[in-house]
Amino acid sequence: MLSVVVLISGSGSNLRSLLDAQSSGGYQIVAVGADNEASGLAHAREFDVETFVVSPGDFGSRDDWAEALLCEVQARQADLVVLAGFMRILPAAFVRALTPHLINMHPSLLPAFPGAHAVRDALAAGVDVTGATVHIVDEGVDTGPIIRQVEVAVEPGDTEATLHERIKQVERELIVATVTNLAQQSVSLEEIAR
Ligand code: GRF
Repeated sequence: MLSVVVLISGSGSNLRSLLDAQSSGGYQIVAVGADNEASGLAHAREFDVETFVVSPGDFGSRDDWAEALLCEVQARQADLVVLAGFMRILPAAFVRALTPHLINMHPSLLPAFPGAHAVRDALAAGVDVTGATVHIVDEGVDTGPIIRQVEVAVEPGDTEATLHERIKQVERELIVATVTNLAQQSVSLEEIAR
């Protein structure tokens, strides 16, 4: 059984989908961590999954914070760490300790529109098609090897909120399918990272 730690910062709708699909997907979420008292932690508690919060404000430096977060993650000895709406950039030492078993969801067709405002940036650029990407985290920002992508059409009158909601619907299926494939060993992160 693939064991998974999920890290979130917000409402955790991707986390929720992962929790709902655990038994059919053949994986187990062993802990959920956050960088703040994120509302999405409630989903984990509902499923009796252990939670932890490591806030940057409690540490003197970003490196100290990331080291404490890494300790919490590594204590769970999980096979995979999923960033599901985790909105902080992780330092190289954290990434190096976990890659390629560290994956991220991003609401665009990377390499287009990396960063924290992917949906807004896609709208501002006037593209007809954007989407969702799941990728291995490397030391850059949203630059790691791509595992899978799904397109989402931009519709006339879309706002950042309406477009992001449609992308999130796609993301939820994408992250569940990806973690399920990893559990079934039909996808190898080592091979994708090579
Ligand atoms: C998702 O769009 C994810 O790609 C981005 O943040 C959003 C998180 O949504 N990084 P949720 O917290 O899973 O609802």
